[in-house]
Amino acid sequence: MHHFEYRNGEYCCEEVPLSRIAEEVGTPFYCYSHATLLRHFTVFDEAFGAIPHIICFAVKANSSLAVLRIFSKAGGGADVVSGGELYRALKAGIPPEKIVYAGVGKTRNEIRQALEAGILMFNVESSQELIAIDSVAGEMGVKAPVALRVNPDVDPQTHPYISTGLKENKFGMSYNTVLKEYHHAVRFDNIDVIGVHKHIGSQITLISPFVDALEKTLDLVRQLRSEGIDIKYIDMGGGLGITYKDEAPPHPKELAQSIAPMLAETGCTIIFEPGRVIVGNAGALISRVLYTKVNEEKTFLIVDAAMNDLARPSLYGSYQHIVPVEEDAVSRKKVSADVVGPICESGDFLAKDRVMPELRRGELIAVMSAGAYGFTMSSNYNSRPRVPEVLVKGSDYDIIRERETYEDLIKGERLPSYLA
Ligand code: LLP
Repeated sequence: MHHFEYRNGEYCCEEVPLSRIAEEVGTPFYCYSHATLLRHFTVFDEAFGAIPHIICFAVKANSSLAVLRIFSKAGGGADVVSGGELYRALKAGIPPEKIVYAGVGKTRNEIRQALEAGILMFNVESSQELIAIDSVAGEMGVKAPVALRVNPDVDPQTHPYISTGLKENKFGMSYNTVLKEYHHAVRFDNIDVIGVHKHIGSQITLISPFVDALEKTLDLVRQLRSEGIDIKYIDMGGGLGITYKDEAPPHPKELAQSIAPMLAETGCTIIFEPGRVIVGNAGALISRVLYTKVNEEKTFLIVDAAMNDLARPSLYGSYQHIVPVEEDAVSRKKVSADVVGPICESGDFLAKDRVMPELRRGELIAVMSAGAYGFTMSSNYNSRPRVPEVLVKGSDYDIIRERETYEDLIKGERLPSYLA
């Protein structure tokens, strides 16, 4: 469900024609729908309304201050994985007591920053990290609240790059040894063990991996409690998938039906870290056709957005639906085309062999489902300024991040004196 649709022959975000924004802001740009963002957040939140919970939005999916602010105003927290994400979450007004911090490589500085902020808890990924957290907390004279991240060895049946809960993945502590890790953890002077964390992967379209991982997690919680280790929080991670093409992931309500009763029994506060399911289909990347080119083999649609703006197709071979902004184009003859950007490598594409209406120079396309891991994974490769982000609300829109300038591209660079 999203608020992108044709109105009066034009593809619109809510009530605003994308062509109007393109005229005023230029292309390419990311466009987000406020109504969709809020709706997805609320649907997820309400699905778990019967149990005490916090929705800690996964900032890596979309870290725009304005987007984070929407969730913070709706009562959300944040799942962060770096000092930079923590900085953003706090700037967006997310209360520190609703922030959880995961990631296998937290530095001492980042640990200090999080302790100073007073976050809810660290999701700890190794025994050495535990030593570092204890030591930094000791220096500061505080106690660090932690959950240990358990790797339950459950196959999320998703792309190998975004599967995180298998033994071969770098994440979390092995299910077989995590109990021992808890025994260590409770002995540290400056650590307060309060939770269990798991996150098995992303773009998961089945319920069973969530249930399997949860069953293992709950066994662990029971064992810990029987030993007098007081677990107050269960962090379920994120991972619920969305429809890019024809996937049929469970609705948050269906997921809740399967897991909420199991969670309710624990009496714990449950943390969820959804990213993609909240923002993925709330955003599109709008781009203009620069040229078309036909050779013996292929039709190429050369557009002004590239792999530096949206890395997912190149990196994961992911499908992103492409919609012509002018509705007239939809009924044109279909061609099979590669939609490619201006970057100088053959891996630069937004779609391969895509059967789509024949588009012409100057026309606009909307690359759909780009609200998650779109802008956040963008880069300056080929010295391309990063594109603006626009937030539509009803019949208005705001630029929530400006297009970078050439000056921005060289910001912070210096010539050594012998080259000056
Ligand atoms: N919590 C943790 C600890 C995570 O590592 C992640 C995602 C999430 C929550 C949110 O997962 P979500 O609900 O969005 O599935 N760049 C990839 C996705 C990487 C996901 C990394 N971790 C992509 O574009 O598909």
